[in-house]
Amino acid sequence: MTAEELRRCYVGFFTERGHKEIASASLLPENDPTVLFTTAGMHPLVPYLLGEKHPLGTRLTDVQKCVRTCDIEEVGDDSHLTFFEMLGNWSLGDYFKEESISMSFDFLTKVLQIPMERLAVTAFEGDERVRKDVETAEIWRRKGLREDQIFYYGTDENWWGPVGQTGPCGPDTEIFYDFGKKKCSDTCGPACHCGKYVEIWNNVFMEYKKEADGSLTELTQKNVDTGMGFERILTINQSKTNVYDTELFIPVMTVLSEILSENETNMTMRDKRILCEHTRATCFILGDDKHIAPSNTEQGYIVRRLIRRMIRILKKAGLPNDTLIKLAEIIILQYQEVYEEIGQNGPFILEQMKNESELFSKTLDAGLKKAERYLMERTVQAEDVQKKGEQQKKEQRSELKILSGALAFKLYDTYGFPIEFTCELAEEKGCLVDLEGFQACFLEHQEKSRQGSEAKFKGGLADHSVQTARLHTATHLLHAALRQVLGEQVQQRGSNITAERLRFDFSHPVKVTKDELARVEDLVNSAIAKKRDVIMTEMTVEEAKEKGAIGLFENKYAEKVKVYEIPDFSMEICGGPHAGNTGELTGFQIIKEEASSSGVRRIKAVLRERSE
Ligand code: SER
Repeated sequence: MTAEELRRCYVGFFTERGHKEIASASLLPENDPTVLFTTAGMHPLVPYLLGEKHPLGTRLTDVQKCVRTCDIEEVGDDSHLTFFEMLGNWSLGDYFKEESISMSFDFLTKVLQIPMERLAVTAFEGDERVRKDVETAEIWRRKGLREDQIFYYGTDENWWGPVGQTGPCGPDTEIFYDFGKKKCSDTCGPACHCGKYVEIWNNVFMEYKKEADGSLTELTQKNVDTGMGFERILTINQSKTNVYDTELFIPVMTVLSEILSENETNMTMRDKRILCEHTRATCFILGDDKHIAPSNTEQGYIVRRLIRRMIRILKKAGLPNDTLIKLAEIIILQYQEVYEEIGQNGPFILEQMKNESELFSKTLDAGLKKAERYLMERTVQAEDVQKKGEQQKKEQRSELKILSGALAFKLYDTYGFPIEFTCELAEEKGCLVDLEGFQACFLEHQEKSRQGSEAKFKGGLADHSVQTARLHTATHLLHAALRQVLGEQVQQRGSNITAERLRFDFSHPVKVTKDELARVEDLVNSAIAKKRDVIMTEMTVEEAKEKGAIGLFENKYAEKVKVYEIPDFSMEICGGPHAGNTGELTGFQIIKEEASSSGVRRIKAVLRERSE
């Protein structure tokens, strides 16, 4: 099957079984303070897994764009990617284990015709909180799997979620493809990384919610959340051994090989793969409608890190920086058919890549020289000590091979070297970097320059607390007020809410004046004072458009969407949750207005407690 045939075949299989197709959500989560990217298809569905009613019903399916930066170091092997597509199907309190496993089994063995002997599956072994999932193993047995194809694992392998501190979670059953190689040892199984098994699908039985105190409570509904790695299943379906040999990467890999031979140079296979993979991830992050540009924080930092890593690879091979543009053009052409935004935002993608490459090239040479000098000094000192042949100095030798946090920070601050990039350089010279020392310098610097950091590389999903719901309603009021004061051309570019504050990004070419900000604040506070009900209605996308609702009309497949209305003030397509009445909000106050990226402004605002 071609890639697009496989996407359609998956979605078709589930829509035939009563699922409604939803569109891929943005790669940049809405109203979610604690994750940088959408890392799984379930992210945009958290409220519904927790019990809110979804306008399309209880069975959903989609192909979701995802980014997982935790796998960045593995990129270059056969299967790990930073950007990937996830095929997913969900039961929101509808079917459970039996039906979910049956559908997955049928899709793999009947539709994709994977021989049953090629599958291996896992089930939850149980822990002090939740009992062993013998039921799942029994269902697999009934499907015809042999005992040696079924494995039990504990919480580390067979429990999924929540993404952060709180949220929906549960035991899962993972489905692996067995490449048929010999077991590497007696204990070799799906959890082993020898390459015999690759995980293709994860079916999570989400019947619990993890609370802030760490305890588990049973959800009111038993859900199923599944996710299948699209690139991996395509690799298997196209009878390849690695994702780069599939049609998804062949065009970009081919162009790279041509550029290498034109320039009479070469690079390792791993570097080639990293270049192509990172180009694709960069195109998808920059190509998201929210127009994230490279920067030193949050998603902008990740994209900066990817581009800078690629520039160094090009430099090592003696290739010009515009190689990146040539590779990106291939990706844009290839993916714009499936993801329109990649084509629409093509010029932005290329411009940002070019700017970032030029910016980094200016300091790269000087920075590399400096880094080499620092690392050389360490290696030479260490060798000197070793030459003296004193056994007790061995320890001292390894201490010497550590690059201090202060120097790593200097490379970051002066030459723009992301810390991970410095770690890679150090590793090549057999040195380590004092990461704690780096962190300390980084924090000290931040303190000095009073740039409160909101970087968050770990954490969980939004807590959906009363306070975040209120701030969410305040965000709708702010959005409407901005359009009243600045004009209807104002469009949301991003929203991020914590329990303490809201942050709203919107399109506007110039700084918002003090006077305009004051008018916006007054409008929001007067809407609060009017104690208006926040009314949710389900309607078709067409009806919502006709009524003048604003918001992302991104759900092109949805028959019905939720529209939140604050009468005479705001009407937005939105998943919720919200306050019931604007009177629950108090003291709206804008605390900052600043540039976010070119043509995009950012407002941070809070709801102050009423002083009684
Ligand atoms: N949420 C699960 C995962 O990401 C299944 O989709 O693996």
